Amino acid sequence: MEESTERLVDAASSAAEEMAEEPLVGMLDLVLLSLLAGVSVYYFFLRDTNKKDEVPVLKSFTISPTSLPMRTNDSNFVAKMKSSGRNVIVFYGSQTGTAEEFAGRLAKDATRWGMKGMVADPEECDMSELAQLTEIENHLAVFCVATYGEGDPTDNAQEFYEFLQNGDDQLDGLQYTVFGLGNKTYEHYNAMGKYVDKRLAELGATRVFELGMGDDDANMEDDFITWKDAMWPKVCEFLGFEAQALDINMRQYKLKIHEEYEPSQLYTGEFARLNSLKIGNQKPPFDSKNPFMAEIVVNRELFNGGERNCMHIELDVEGSRIRYDSGDHVAVYPVNDTALVNRLLELTNEDPDRVFSLTNVDEDSSKKHPFPCPCTYRTALSHYVDITALPRTHVLKELAEYTSDPAEKEKLKLMSSTCDEGKMEYQKWIVNDVRSIVHILEDLPSCKPPLDHICELLPRLQARYYSISSSGKLHPTKIHVTANVLKYETPTGRTNKGVCTNYLYKLKPENDTKYHVPIFVRKSQFRLPSKPQTPIIMIGPGTGIAPFRGFIQERSWQRQEGKPVGETVLYFGCRNKAIDYLYENELNEAKDSGLLKLYLAFSRDQAEKVYVTHLLEQNKAEVWRIIGQENGHLYVCGDAKKMARDVHTAIIQICQTEGGMTPGEAELYVKKMINQKRYSSDVWS
Ligand SMILES: Cc1cc2nc3c(=O)[nH]c(=O)nc-3n(C[C@H](O)[C@H](O)[C@H](O)COP(=O)(O)OP(=O)(O)OC[C@H]3O[C@@H](n4cnc5c(N)ncnc54)[C@H](O)[C@@H]3O)c2cc1C
Ligand SMILES: NC(=O)c1ccc[n+]([C@@H]2O[C@H](COP(=O)([O-])OP(=O)(O)OC[C@H]3O[C@@H](n4cnc5c(N)ncnc54)[C@H](OP(=O)(O)O)[C@@H]3O)[C@@H](O)[C@H]2O)c1
Ligand SMILES: Cc1cc2nc3c(=O)[nH]c(=O)nc-3n(C[C@H](O)[C@H](O)[C@H](O)COP(=O)(O)O)c2cc1C
Repeated sequence: MEESTERLVDAASSAAEEMAEEPLVGMLDLVLLSLLAGVSVYYFFLRDTNKKDEVPVLKSFTISPTSLPMRTNDSNFVAKMKSSGRNVIVFYGSQTGTAEEFAGRLAKDATRWGMKGMVADPEECDMSELAQLTEIENHLAVFCVATYGEGDPTDNAQEFYEFLQNGDDQLDGLQYTVFGLGNKTYEHYNAMGKYVDKRLAELGATRVFELGMGDDDANMEDDFITWKDAMWPKVCEFLGFEAQALDINMRQYKLKIHEEYEPSQLYTGEFARLNSLKIGNQKPPFDSKNPFMAEIVVNRELFNGGERNCMHIELDVEGSRIRYDSGDHVAVYPVNDTALVNRLLELTNEDPDRVFSLTNVDEDSSKKHPFPCPCTYRTALSHYVDITALPRTHVLKELAEYTSDPAEKEKLKLMSSTCDEGKMEYQKWIVNDVRSIVHILEDLPSCKPPLDHICELLPRLQARYYSISSSGKLHPTKIHVTANVLKYETPTGRTNKGVCTNYLYKLKPENDTKYHVPIFVRKSQFRLPSKPQTPIIMIGPGTGIAPFRGFIQERSWQRQEGKPVGETVLYFGCRNKAIDYLYENELNEAKDSGLLKLYLAFSRDQAEKVYVTHLLEQNKAEVWRIIGQENGHLYVCGDAKKMARDVHTAIIQICQTEGGMTPGEAELYVKKMINQKRYSSDVWS
């Protein structure tokens, strides 16, 4: 028998279940009552009672399932809302978790404003039910949607997008608001948020609050909290509620420490099924929930000296049935740095081998645990929790409750507030100084949160994407990756290391040591023209060369197959010819074979910077001939922030000078190229 606090927690849960029967009006009173009871409920029932000698827990928490956001994967979401007495539903369109996290925060916020919220994945809901939401009194549908690609929805919002596009469904009376997540460095800034907001209104729905837009390139957190803090009072006003936010904190998950356990039943880094990452025990098809353990068969340095490192990695996918095309992406699940994990365990005075579970207090929720449980704290911190993410403001608010020094507590409270001074402090102390949870606990020594709460608050560790740098035709069982190892100094004098690239950097197969990493392949739209004879221009400085190495391999293979291959032009740039000229020998071989026309920009080999954009300008007649006269395709890969924008500007300029267009015509021409998939970008920032 496991010795745990479960029985007592169950008692708390059933009391809370009774609360679920209560009408909405009584909620505020109940929440206040449960707030009073919070200290004892949390302290005595939910914390590990064996850790008596630890720092005092200062925080008081309400555990009240009815007031917590649930998640639904029941496609009949309206029925579920009715049966559980919810009136707010927050849908998310998310690829890497941010929109999903924001949706969770909004659903939780609903409670503070006297409503009851739940989170929903549109992919798992019958969205044609939206019209029926009007049957729920005082309902609100919130849409938190990210934009990808060329203004596209995320995978999980694709069907919802199509539903809206095709929609002749009338949504009269549906009360909604939208928050879009995007990044201004991309051309189609927040296209999805704008579209959802506009389209719902066109279909007759009522916009309760104006569209909010977050810019990942600036300060997404600031954009989000500013929007939501203005949104809730307006929603209350619209629904006729008294606009008053309760300052309560809630735990969404209850902690259970497993004193006795069956080791074979512990998760050790799997994403779904126990033992699913065991070599030899894996079953296709492989995807984000069931990644393939690919062996790293090559991991070599591409730079010749210098302070940076760039890896050429080859992943063996033999026997996995994974297929890929040039231009696809491979996703790699990383493991957090051991030293950082140990430091966090030390700062929280926690036992790495302690086995625990975090279980959703809301038994109706489809998300039972924040990550696979039970597992040890070491597993959670190594595989599941993003410990290097910059903590968002709601996390700082919770941390303040565990901080005994008044000045430190005040600082955390300030940064979690929405006043200008607080926002500036958050921007400076967290964002500019790039402080992770470890840095915060180091710099605010009286802040002593329990590790289980940190595990609840921080986001999930995400897979990192890499543009595959090989051709599936030439290397059907190997996936090549070209990745720079990320390392930088922060203003506080710390060295921050990128999670995935520094993890991979250590995995060098030597002698008999074999390393496997969990991967999956994501199809992309970045494709060679269907006809090999179509001429192409590829622009890829730095690691932006990755997919073009695959394209060149593929065209070389097509040539060997006797196909007529069109002009193949590459613009590559790096800092110094002698140091970071990637794949120099291969590129020269392709050039010498007559396949490749190569233009090189070594930016730091002379006094004046030379970039690929300068070379495009120098070769403008040829560029125009290929894209303007011969219907060629143009590709850009690498830095989204500056390079891809500068290339875009350079091409528009060439359309004017060489194509004789006005600035407006040139813009339209490039837009048309993008729509025709003759101008494709594979860029990241
Ligand atoms: C579609 C796509 C394709 C990609 N292809 C490639 C590829 O082929 N090759 C490649 O090398 N990468 C590629 N990337 C980037 C890659 O996915 C990772 O983002 C990159 O390897 C860093 O991951 P990491 O885990 O090492 O760093 P993380 O731990 O994720 O750290 C990265 C974060 O650190 C922050 N950061 C970085 N530098 C600084 C700084 N100087 N100051 C403050 N903060 C900073 C940034 O916010 C950044 O988000 C691609 C990304 C996408 C989306
Ligand atoms: N998410 C991430 O953490 C991550 C990871 C990897 C890469 N990236 C992004 O991807 C980019 C490429 O990375 P990298 O390290 O492979 O490249 P890099 O070595 O930094 O740069 C490659 C070449 O591009 C030049 N360059 C700089 N600005 C340019 C511009 N506006 N137009 C054209 N060329 C320009 C550089 O010149 P100078 O340096 O001499 O100016 C250098 O010669 C990075 O800039 C980074 O933003 C992001
Ligand atoms: C490969 C890639 C493509 C993107 N394309 C766009 C875009 O076209 N427009 C935009 O506004 N934001 C774009 N973004 C930014 C994302 O929308 C933004 O980072 C958002 O916070 C992601 O949310 P998520 O974590 O919920 O997926 C892109 C981001 C990546 C990594």
